[in-house]
Amino acid sequence: MKTLISIALLMLSPIMVNASPNGQQLFENNCSVCHGTKGGGGVGIPLALPSFINSVSDNYLRKTIRYGRPGRVMPSFNNLSDDEILSIVNYMRTWTGKKGKTFSKHNITGNPQAGGKLFNKLCISCHGVGGIGGAGTGVTFSRPRNSPIIAPSLNNPGFLSSAEDEFIKETLVNGRAGTPMISYKQFGLSDQDINNLVSYIRGFEAGPYPFKSYDTESAVIKVDSPYSIEETINNVKDAIIGKNFKLIRVQELNQGLVEAGKENKKSYIIYFCNFNFLNKALAIDPRVGMFLPCRVTVIEQNGKVSIISTNPLKLASLFNNHELSEACKEMHTIYSELLEEASL
Ligand code: HEC
Ligand code: HEC
Repeated sequence: MKTLISIALLMLSPIMVNASPNGQQLFENNCSVCHGTKGGGGVGIPLALPSFINSVSDNYLRKTIRYGRPGRVMPSFNNLSDDEILSIVNYMRTWTGKKGKTFSKHNITGNPQAGGKLFNKLCISCHGVGGIGGAGTGVTFSRPRNSPIIAPSLNNPGFLSSAEDEFIKETLVNGRAGTPMISYKQFGLSDQDINNLVSYIRGFEAGPYPFKSYDTESAVIKVDSPYSIEETINNVKDAIIGKNFKLIRVQELNQGLVEAGKENKKSYIIYFCNFNFLNKALAIDPRVGMFLPCRVTVIEQNGKVSIISTNPLKLASLFNNHELSEACKEMHTIYSELLEEASL
């Protein structure tokens, strides 16, 4: 019977071959851009290191994916179902073939004041004042820094809602081999010291989920143009040159994706660039390259022409970097003016 149903389903939906979510595929679609295809790290910290993956509970992983780290780069995946999240976790387990740990939730008592003193002495150099986290994110390829991996935020509600006391304690006891996080037991801290640190970190508790979302910015800036698509493209080109940008090229949105001659004549991308700005932004952080060169899309839908660009402020919300946020604000102003001028 089951087979019959499966066959019927297969026939009904030729594209949906897999009924249960594919964890590897989901990981590749949602996570690998930051954490690397096999969890090796990137904009996000490494996930496949045995010292990490074997030390966490499934529960911690599931909650971390669901909640993210509000205000940090790690997004919350509200769009994924519980089944999908579980399949991602199961896929992550295949990296080492080991099962997750099980911990009780909050069961360690220590002296948070004493823990705070230790924290300020031993931990703030990486985890920041009050556990705010290191500046920047993930693995730094860019500028030389003392630490190859940026220390995560510990006062983050996403972390605190996901991490069990025992997990925090084990992290302090064992450290994370392969990362700058050392074993504080080997370093010489006593069991009591470590309990005090756990209590101090637990004291950051910011209250239960859900948290206020930090990125209320819309993903795109869009204006309607009263002109025809050809006129609008020319206006955009003029505005680009008027703003001292270099026009790179104009192409059909699907050029190269369809046979030559069959491109969609109702949607175009215009690439442009300001090398001074580009160099400035790249010097702050090479990951800016992910959204460069600048581009504007002009499309005609149901006889209405609109001009669309990505919203640099949305990107600012992705990077926990003040300098970059300032550059993104500047870009937002430039883009908005450009779009406005082209549609005037
Ligand atoms: C936009 C980049 C980005 C994406 C996409 C992303 N992450 Fe993250 N992730 C991060 C960063 C950065 C951190 C470190 C948090 C910090 O700096 O406070 C992190 C932290 C984590 C942690 C906690 C690691 C630890 O040491 O406790 C887990 C687990 C994790 N991510 C899993 C995932 C999974 C699974 C996905 C896909 C469903 C995903 N992430 C998608 C950037 C990302
Ligand atoms: C040299 C920099 C450095 C110092 C000093 C340091 N840490 Fe870490 N810590 C890190 C890094 C980097 C990670 C993430 C490791 C990884 O990639 O899995 C981390 C991870 C952690 C985690 C797990 C967080 C998570 O999201 O998984 C906890 C808890 C932690 N550190 C607490 C502390 C405490 C408490 C101290 C002081 C006793 C301390 N650390 C000192 C760099 C540091």
